Amino acid sequence: MFVMTLREGQEHFKAGLGGFFQSSEIDFYYKTLLKDGLNRDPIQLSIEPWVELTSEEEFFVKESLSKLIAHQPLQYVLGKTHFRDLTLKVDKRVLIPRPETEEMVEWVLEDFKKLNQKLRLIDMGTGSGCIGIALAKAQPYFSVFALDKDVDILDLTAENAKLNGVQIKCIEQDMNQMNTLKLKIDVIVSNPPYVMLSEQNQMKSNVLDYEPHQAIFISNKDPLLFYRLILEFAADNLKPKGFIYFEINPLLLKELKDLIISFSYIVFERLDIFKKVRMLRLQKK
Ligand SMILES: C[S@@+](CC[C@H](N)C(=O)[O-])C[C@H]1O[C@@H](n2cnc3c(N)ncnc32)[C@H](O)[C@@H]1O
Repeated sequence: MFVMTLREGQEHFKAGLGGFFQSSEIDFYYKTLLKDGLNRDPIQLSIEPWVELTSEEEFFVKESLSKLIAHQPLQYVLGKTHFRDLTLKVDKRVLIPRPETEEMVEWVLEDFKKLNQKLRLIDMGTGSGCIGIALAKAQPYFSVFALDKDVDILDLTAENAKLNGVQIKCIEQDMNQMNTLKLKIDVIVSNPPYVMLSEQNQMKSNVLDYEPHQAIFISNKDPLLFYRLILEFAADNLKPKGFIYFEINPLLLKELKDLIISFSYIVFERLDIFKKVRMLRLQKK
């Protein structure tokens, strides 16, 4: 019976994905699949390429390849991703965490490096929990709340917190109806939906066909909705001198800054690796 070796699996990947991706990307995909999908050290591919896959492994390689050919994101195929030092489960309920969001987490951690007292922090629109869990893990003085609209999503958030050994409090709450939510908070961090529907045609099918639209898109008519809702929530719930960190759509920077002026904050901007203003830090006056 024909058995697939590690090297043959790689050739299979190259043949299947060659039309869509560059060879370095295909290698990265295959090695990530070995590591995260089959718990094999990718170095094995260089030193023991003749090692045979088990029939379950071979099935997994072939099935994963079909999903990748159908443009399913690798992270959903594997059911997991990495964010800073965390491994997080991801599936179609939640957005796949992005590198820009790691940058925002770094910013918060730099600012709160020297904490010596508990601070209450809320991650609004938590999804996989990447922001809140990473912050709770790296800075134990943060007491973290993680808010999202569906219990289904929060089940995954809670699972990820457990997986990474941190305690956070999940809050099921639609941001459109926060008038009854009363919390005294020191820090708000949010990466809310911020892509306008009109930007859809510039997006790739791996995002459009698989990632949850409610996590990504916002109407063209009111693209700052979530920022406004969070600022209104903060008016009552964020302590004086408290901070808000927002991940933002660089295309909406001017409008967003105009909106913030009607509230009372000192605003700082930060660029992402592509030199676009992608994050704002607001300090309540
Ligand atoms: C851009 S995703 C961010 C997910 C995660 N924090 C991250 O950075 O990868 C936005 C999140 O906001 C949540 N969301 C969308 N509409 C919401 C609403 N009305 N109320 C509460 N959360 C909402 C989505 O479910 C999604 O998890």
